[in-house]
Amino acid sequence: MDSGTLSVAVLISGTGSNLKAIIDAQKSGRLNVDIARVISNKADAGGLVFAREAGIPCSVIPSAGAPSREAHDAAISRCLDETDPDLVVLAGYMRILGGEMVARFRGKIINLHPSLLPKYPGLDTYRKALDAGDAEHGSSMHFVTEGLDDGPLISQAKIPVLPGDDPESLARRLGPVEHRLVVATVELFTRRKVEMSPDGVWVDGELSAGPMMLNEDDQLV
Ligand code: GAR
Repeated sequence: MDSGTLSVAVLISGTGSNLKAIIDAQKSGRLNVDIARVISNKADAGGLVFAREAGIPCSVIPSAGAPSREAHDAAISRCLDETDPDLVVLAGYMRILGGEMVARFRGKIINLHPSLLPKYPGLDTYRKALDAGDAEHGSSMHFVTEGLDDGPLISQAKIPVLPGDDPESLARRLGPVEHRLVVATVELFTRRKVEMSPDGVWVDGELSAGPMMLNEDDQLV
C-alpha cells in the first residue's frame, strides 16, 4: 500500500452490494484504497461473503443481544480504533450510531442513504417518494452527525420516477446508481481533501454550494 492509499473501513448490515462495488473498483484500479476492515452487526450479512472472498479482514459485532446500544457502539469503536482507517463508510449499515461514537469519529464517517436528502430520512424512502408524487428519486452520501440521516451532504445521484413505478422497481433501478455514487464519493476522498464543518462540506478548502452530483461519466460535479 503506498502512502497515498486511503485506508477505509466499511460497515454493513446486509446484502453488501455497495461494499462489492467498492471492492470491484479497488480491484480494477479505479479506487486507490485499502479496505482495511469490514464490520457487520449481523453474522449472516451477505456482504461478509464478498469481503471474505476478497481476503478483507472482517469483524462481526452483533447488535442483537448486546447489553446496550452504548456497549455495541463501544465495541465498534474499539474495532475502528484498532483498524485506524482514514474513512469509515456506512454502506447499508442499518443502525443509528450513538452520539459518543459520532463525536469520536467526527468528519471521518460517511453514510449512503437511498433518498435525495433532506427528503425522507429513515426507512421506506421509495414509498415516501412515490406517495409524494416526486418526479425524481435518488441517493445521497453525507457526513454522519448525531441526527438521523442529517449530516452535511457530500454527493447525490438522481433517477427519474417513471409511470407505473412501485417501491421495488424504483429500488431496482436505483441500486446500480448507488453503486456508482458510493464509488465516485470514496474516490473523491482519495483525490481531494473533503472536510466537514458546521457550514457544510469543504472540498480542497472551498465550501461546496450543495451536494456534488453524479454525472453520466461517473464523475461528481
Ligand atoms: C442501500 O440501498 C443503502 O442506500 C441503504 O441500504 C442499502 C444497502 O444495500 N441504506 C440505508 O437505508 C441507510 N439508511 P447493500 O447492502 O446491497 O449495499
